[in-house]
Amino acid sequence: MSVATDERMRMIIQEFPKTELHLHIEGTFEPELVFEIAKRHNVAIPYRSVEEVRRAYDFHDLQSFLDIYYRAMSVLLHEEDFYDLTIAYLQRVSRQGVRHAEIFFDPQAHTSRGVSFETVVTGIHKALEEGERRLGISSKLIMCFLRDLSADSAMETLDAGLSFKNWIFAVGLDSKELGNPPEKFEAVFKKALDEGFMAVAHAGEEAPAEYIWQALELLGVSRIDHGYHCLEDARLVEKLASEQVPLTACPLAAVGVRYFDSVEHFPLGKMLQLGLLVMVNSDDPAYFGGYVEENLAAVQKAIRLNEQDILHLLKNSFKASFLEPERKQKFLRELDEKYASL
Ligand code: ADE
Ligand code: ZN
Repeated sequence: MSVATDERMRMIIQEFPKTELHLHIEGTFEPELVFEIAKRHNVAIPYRSVEEVRRAYDFHDLQSFLDIYYRAMSVLLHEEDFYDLTIAYLQRVSRQGVRHAEIFFDPQAHTSRGVSFETVVTGIHKALEEGERRLGISSKLIMCFLRDLSADSAMETLDAGLSFKNWIFAVGLDSKELGNPPEKFEAVFKKALDEGFMAVAHAGEEAPAEYIWQALELLGVSRIDHGYHCLEDARLVEKLASEQVPLTACPLAAVGVRYFDSVEHFPLGKMLQLGLLVMVNSDDPAYFGGYVEENLAAVQKAIRLNEQDILHLLKNSFKASFLEPERKQKFLRELDEKYASL
């Protein structure tokens, strides 16, 4: 049965199986839940309404976003708060076709406030288990080091994470990029790899291509988060394309912190043309106006991607995931079958 073109595109974007590979769980903290948890703990927040919070989400760079992001998460205190945050995310994206999610969390943003690593990771893990059981979404957890804190603090965080090796799949690197190059964390990543974790890092988000080189050569990462600045360096593009190093692009977030002045200027089309293994993710959906489906829809409309382009992006997201090879193949086949039967 053939369906009208717009309806076909809507179905592909909304209903086809997809992964999310660049998602900060703290970045899914919707204002309604911030208020609910603040009330639960009787803590005051400097906003009177959900609308007032949303009005404050007008960022001019990465730091102005991070300031609000860290402030909001300070109401998260107990295991149940982290559980509620995570299950809310999974429930929402189960309605968007997400079948697998690789989720960042920022332990130091909580341990620095006196919340234990165990409290944070247990709450998140219980929700992920529930998400797999009840919603059929598999997941992998990635603990990120805050790069604006010291390498010693990152090493302490890694050591805390070693007790939860069964629950944590990889390490990552996030927060204020400029001035905090990957080389600062070489020893931490070396130990993480030796301990059997996989590694990813935000690089080339706001800092130059050199940070991407360092992430690849000094940290041993399997994926680059964002990575837009690779486009300034032809030799780097050549390496990323020929080795098919994944780049986890986040269109609405990149526009939200004004790296690009509109989604029309987001370089996804160029990255695809260059043969890079890029896919669409949401980063911090509560802050930047959308989860993976809204990101795909925005970019499709803005740069007029066709059905094959969207299918290609969805396939890239499975290829770039840490899923076991058989499950990857199963999802790739499922995508082809769904497309053929549209
Ligand atoms: N933490 C949450 N979102 C981030 C981003 N886009 N870049 C760096 N750190 C982050
Ligand atoms: Zn990010």
